[in-house]
Amino acid sequence: MLRVAVLASHTGSNMRALHQASLAPDARFIVVLVLSNNSGSGAMEYAREHRIPTQHVSGHTHPDPDSLDQAIRRALLDHKIDLVVTAGYMKRLGSATRKEFADRIINIHPSLLPRHGGPGRYGIRVHEAVLMAGDTISGASVHLVDEEYDTGRVLAQRDVPVLPGDTAESLAQRVLAVEHQLLPAVVQSLAVNKAQPARPAHLPESDIS
Ligand code: GRF
Repeated sequence: MLRVAVLASHTGSNMRALHQASLAPDARFIVVLVLSNNSGSGAMEYAREHRIPTQHVSGHTHPDPDSLDQAIRRALLDHKIDLVVTAGYMKRLGSATRKEFADRIINIHPSLLPRHGGPGRYGIRVHEAVLMAGDTISGASVHLVDEEYDTGRVLAQRDVPVLPGDTAESLAQRVLAVEHQLLPAVVQSLAVNKAQPARPAHLPESDIS
């Protein structure tokens, strides 16, 4: 079983989707830690309700950035984490954590990277940018985390068509539904392959269900 930690700051719907998928009989991964900078987040509430171990680590608990980085690294090591998933985690991981878990940290982003990634491109702003650009196709990406925002190697993507009359909110809703399928599919595939993350893949719909 691949031991997974999910880092989430707010709602945590991707974390829930991942946890639910981990309960399937053929799942090869298990969510063993939910870590958040926000102790009252939906992600943490869900984890407590489902008896998933939680850890609250933030600028309040650790005002010094290096000790915060070390606390996160330590928590991941203590739980013998194989794969770190950031899903709606609004903080940048420190260098000690990134180094310790090099090539074992993935993030989900609600666009077809490299389009609409980078600093300031998060949440509804991503979908606003898609509409502003007049894109006819958007989607979701799962990528490796490196030292920049949204620049690590893309592991998998899935398209979501932009529909006439879409608002940022309606597009966000459809992309999020796809994220809830894509993320568990990628984690399962990494768990099955157990090796280094595979080459970039563009997963067609039929490969995900
Ligand atoms: C998702 O759209 C994810 O791609 C982005 O932040 C959002 C988090 O949503 N990074 P949730 O907390 O998983 O519901």
